[in-house]
Amino acid sequence: MNIVLLGAPGAGKGTQASKIKEKYNVLHISTGDIFRANIKGGTPIGKVAKSYIDAGKLVSDEVTCDIVKDRLSQDDVKAGYMLDGFPRNLFQAGELDKFATIDWCVNIDVDFALLQDRICGRRVCACGESYHVSTLNGETKCAKCGGELYQRADDNPETVKARLDTYQNQTAPLIEYYQKQGKLVNIESGTKSPDEVFELICKELDKRVK
Ligand code: AP5
Ligand code: MG
Repeated sequence: MNIVLLGAPGAGKGTQASKIKEKYNVLHISTGDIFRANIKGGTPIGKVAKSYIDAGKLVSDEVTCDIVKDRLSQDDVKAGYMLDGFPRNLFQAGELDKFATIDWCVNIDVDFALLQDRICGRRVCACGESYHVSTLNGETKCAKCGGELYQRADDNPETVKARLDTYQNQTAPLIEYYQKQGKLVNIESGTKSPDEVFELICKELDKRVK
């Protein structure tokens, strides 16, 4: 099963990806994580990506599509994968359809009013887990691997506003794109907890996966 995970910044893509990958045994490929690893490693891609990410804008389609195409050409994706954060505009979606076959697009639909607090209160671990300060009770280590938690450089109020604008203008049209292809699985997340959202996702995916 090959899935695209769609949703605004802070919608819970990373949170759900970590649950989905365990249950459905699919690989989690996050373009945001790939860029952050490149920034940390000081690579040429990281140097280019940093200015866009810090501004809440999209990294160029050429660079991003090349990264995903290359990643999907590797053998380990054959059992199935989940793309988190790609595609992010109509051009990327069209390119993806040239080099991959997507079965379902899971769209996590969240009220915009919740996102600023979720993003600015997020703490992440290098292993990929996300937490929120409101449920950490002062804990500074990852419950999964014991790693030190930290705040992402783009998780500040100014950048968040730009990221939400970018989402509205460029990424939201993908909902209709996948709906027209009959692949949209819409999840009304509302104020549900991560476990409740995961239950909804499983219910919908289980209907579709034979
Ligand atoms: P990326 O890393 O993809 O960030 P994003 O889309 O802004 O999404 P986030 O990771 O912020 O949110 P999420 O949906 O994963 O939420 P999470 O589960 O962590 O991209 C970063 C940047 O890279 C982009 O801005 C762009 O510059 C660049 N980039 C990436 N892909 C690109 C592409 N294809 N093309 C060009 N540029 C690209 O949850 C958020 C918080 O909420 C956490 O604290 C979590 O604990 C909490 N939470 C989650 N679910 C719930 C819930 N149900 N109830 C309460 N709290 C919850
Ligand atoms: Mg994420």
